[in-house]
Amino acid sequence: MSFPTQRLRRLRKTDSLRRIVRETRLSRDDLVAPLFVCPGEGVEREVPSMPGVFQRSVDRLVEEARAIADLGIPAVILFGLPERKDAEGSASWSAGGIVQRALRALREKVPGLALVADVCFCEYTDHGHCGVLAGGEVANDATLANLALQAVSFAEAGADVLAPSGMMDGMVGAIRAALDRAGCEDRAILSYAAKYASGFYGPFREAAESAPAFGDRRGYQMDPANAREALREVRLDIEEGADIVMVKPALAYLDVIRRVRETFDIPVAAYSVSGEYAMVKAAAARGWIDGPRVRDEILLSIKRAGADFILTYFAREVALSI
Ligand code: PBG
Repeated sequence: MSFPTQRLRRLRKTDSLRRIVRETRLSRDDLVAPLFVCPGEGVEREVPSMPGVFQRSVDRLVEEARAIADLGIPAVILFGLPERKDAEGSASWSAGGIVQRALRALREKVPGLALVADVCFCEYTDHGHCGVLAGGEVANDATLANLALQAVSFAEAGADVLAPSGMMDGMVGAIRAALDRAGCEDRAILSYAAKYASGFYGPFREAAESAPAFGDRRGYQMDPANAREALREVRLDIEEGADIVMVKPALAYLDVIRRVRETFDIPVAAYSVSGEYAMVKAAAARGWIDGPRVRDEILLSIKRAGADFILTYFAREVALSI
């Protein structure tokens, strides 16, 4: 018995045919743009390892956010570069802090944009670790109390979504309880639930001036070798009240995104991090790859793996291209 050749190429013949059978698409609705806010006025400083990404003072940030909203991107996530750093990172929970000022300005001037605030301490501590130190290590429970202060302060300044990224145990529960106590029960939590100790964060630490002064983050961020453990992290964060869970980085952890997507029914975000962006930009600048094509292929793979939306430094250029 002989069968006719199965001709899958029939539906690949033309662009129109390819379009009607396309399974996954990138849309503006999939994108969250990360933004870095710094003190001063009229400041717009490009990050050397991330061409097209800038540290901006609040006035310039507002202009950029307006452009982003006009492009149809629904949300931004803010990272702050404070005036001063100390051992606790106390500038992060001051009502006059850099992120609080940015949130108030954006809330007023770009009202339709969803505002996500990264909740962590590495940008605010003089040692660059993600919490309070005790005996050379980040003290988990002492850090939780400070995370709660920071999250409430960001919420009061206008954040719609609080995004704890420090990988402290119990961070989601502590922040949820504090938000509810402060009358902010309407604010959501996007937990960096499965965040790996990754070499892909290199350029971000330049952008956010947040490299640890000693050691590394392997004592709190996840081991890149572990995928089952990511499911435990996500499960606990959901139990503690996370509204959205995130996997980070994205490209080297597509299997984790897929497993989280298949195991849980809440929204799943993926963070395509600074190193993923820098690799594409660096290779494209040398003419070694076609930058926009590789960019779209990577972002599509993250959606195909199961992410509902993507935090990406490409947000603006992708929105411009579709
Ligand atoms: C911590 C934080 C980091 C990133 C987002 N939030 C850095 C880290 O854990 O060292 C990395 C994002 C990126 O690399 O693009 N506040």
